[in-house]
Amino acid sequence: MQHKITSFDQYQKTYQYSVNEPEQFWNEIADSFVWKQKWNKTLEWNFKTPDVKWFLNGKLNITENCLDRHLEKNGNKPAIIWESNDVNEANRTLTYNELHAEVCRLSNVLQNNGVVKGDRICLYMPMIPELAIAVLACARIGAIHSVVFAGFSSKSIADRINDASCKLLLTADGLYRGNKTINLKEICDEALASTPSIEKVIVYQRTHQKIDMQIGRDVWWHSEMQKAATHFDAVEMDSEDPLFILYTSGSTGKPKGVVHTQAGYMVYTYYTFLNVFQYEEDDIFWCTADIGWITGHSYIVYGPLLNGATTVMFEGIPTYPDAGRFWATIDKLKVTKFYTAPTAIRSLMANGIEFVTPYKLDTLRVIGSVGEPINEEAWHWYHHHIGKEKCPLVDTWWQTETAGILISPLAFITPTKPTYATLPLPGVQPVLVDAQGSILQGNDIEGFLCMQFPWPGIIRTTYGDHERCRQAYFASFDNLYFTGDGCRRDADGYYRIIGRVDDVMNVSGHRLGTAEVENAINEHPNVIESAVVAYPHDIKGQGIYAFVIVDKQSIDQGVVDTDAPFEEGAGIDNSLQLLNRAAFENEIRNIVSKIISPIAKPDKIQIVSGLPKTRSGKIMRRILRKIAEGDISNLGDTTTLLDPNVVEEIKQGAGISTKN
Ligand code: WT7
Repeated sequence: MQHKITSFDQYQKTYQYSVNEPEQFWNEIADSFVWKQKWNKTLEWNFKTPDVKWFLNGKLNITENCLDRHLEKNGNKPAIIWESNDVNEANRTLTYNELHAEVCRLSNVLQNNGVVKGDRICLYMPMIPELAIAVLACARIGAIHSVVFAGFSSKSIADRINDASCKLLLTADGLYRGNKTINLKEICDEALASTPSIEKVIVYQRTHQKIDMQIGRDVWWHSEMQKAATHFDAVEMDSEDPLFILYTSGSTGKPKGVVHTQAGYMVYTYYTFLNVFQYEEDDIFWCTADIGWITGHSYIVYGPLLNGATTVMFEGIPTYPDAGRFWATIDKLKVTKFYTAPTAIRSLMANGIEFVTPYKLDTLRVIGSVGEPINEEAWHWYHHHIGKEKCPLVDTWWQTETAGILISPLAFITPTKPTYATLPLPGVQPVLVDAQGSILQGNDIEGFLCMQFPWPGIIRTTYGDHERCRQAYFASFDNLYFTGDGCRRDADGYYRIIGRVDDVMNVSGHRLGTAEVENAINEHPNVIESAVVAYPHDIKGQGIYAFVIVDKQSIDQGVVDTDAPFEEGAGIDNSLQLLNRAAFENEIRNIVSKIISPIAKPDKIQIVSGLPKTRSGKIMRRILRKIAEGDISNLGDTTTLLDPNVVEEIKQGAGISTKN
């Protein structure tokens, strides 16, 4: 296992080497995989068009590297250990042999249902082993998977299916999440009314609830699997053939389909998993994300399996049946490395230490954090109470677009520092730039975080719209990949991510565009216009604050009361007006849930008569953000606004004293 860095000194040398000789560096990593044909050129790139290709003309199948190559030595090693939502339901363990067989069977099922290389397949599934099996079966047959998180609405599914013209949908009858049972098939059926490209729907039976099956279109997973053989020759793919599409929000209203390709994604997720978590053969690795997000793709499925690791999949939520579930499960499964999100830590922290103390947590060796900045208090709580001050806490910074971790400590090997993602991984070349795009030299500086050289996992395109990819990531600064994050490099050269600098919010680690939420709110018949901003939230990291203009008629007729309290869950008294107000807010939240997902529901809704706009009509979000934060000490120059009075009114409506 010569790719594993074992000392700080070796990290520094490897890092230097990876910058001086990037192609040679990555060649050596890529050499350890099973190729059907070796690549003949390592890298071709430019950040203008953009166009990045790694391991050119190589032929491979990623599932042979995730599965087949481990069978001889590790066929009986657990590949996946599944923990049910229900504490009383038995764990399911799939060895590498078993996982291989199931993936082959499902590949045959896909083939029997008309899937060929290059087809797009949508996966809308519970967190059960079948989701991982489905991801891998798509990869084995050369179909492009597009996993849609099973908390998204039918409209979101339909949009994603249509954007990529998916041919098949893989789903389940329902799913369990905490004490809820959700009818997934019903949500799919609603989406399927407007997805003409879908030919077949394969339905896994999880909850055994009653659902509709459309004859000719919908087939049962279990009956298809019964007919299928456990052998399937992995389809030969080119290094740069797409592996998957994963939709993520940006600063426009429409989520974009981030495309990752075969070889680069494989090499990068393998290498980062190995080094950041310092993978050891006997590890039980648990990443608590959902496979519907990139974290799950890279560090539940591909990264661990490429290393031959044992990976845990959890169906439930951290607070069910109580806030000790994570810790109970760590003890039960003897988890050695644990990877979760700051929002989960903060919410468990708020539940009290009595949910932690019953558990030993003595199998843990490394703990990790991902998805948003981790605040100092949460960092120390996690490090002290969960890591017992002996497990390194790796704060891993990366993005859907980067495929894997770019900036992070390597557990035990490089130093950690509370709230810092610390140092770039080998092969990663971050720079901080000012607003003009000039690269800032030296340390103790702050700027926009960019990458000046490609790594194998970099985004290749946004599906069906390459220009959008260029605009979003490569147009802001010349010859640089722009992350959208602000960042500080301290005196020691350590990186600390400050947060997004664009119109993207991060709510409980979920990325949401302000425009996306505004578009949904604007669907309400009484809403004229809205503006959404993020504000600091104790548990979620950021909450959503919506400023909403309601049509005058509804106000005059008392349909919507403009003065009532606006906090979610605020008391409702008997007066008609407050009831109207509460009902209106519910309607807004329901619309957002229906159009996007419950995760996008605004926490606060304030009714306003106007929005602060520049003379050219652009909403001044900076001002709204300040008001949402409750900080109006420095609103900046408001005299250039179209209507400066509106700011005063909004401040009063927000309950902020204007005598500051
Ligand atoms: C954005 C990417 C990467 C998988 C999960 C989220 C923020 C991510 C950190 C971190 C501070 C972080 C950034 C980034 N972010 N990790 N360790 N510290 N911020 O993926 O939905 O693509 O979001 O999440 O703002 O740009 P994503």
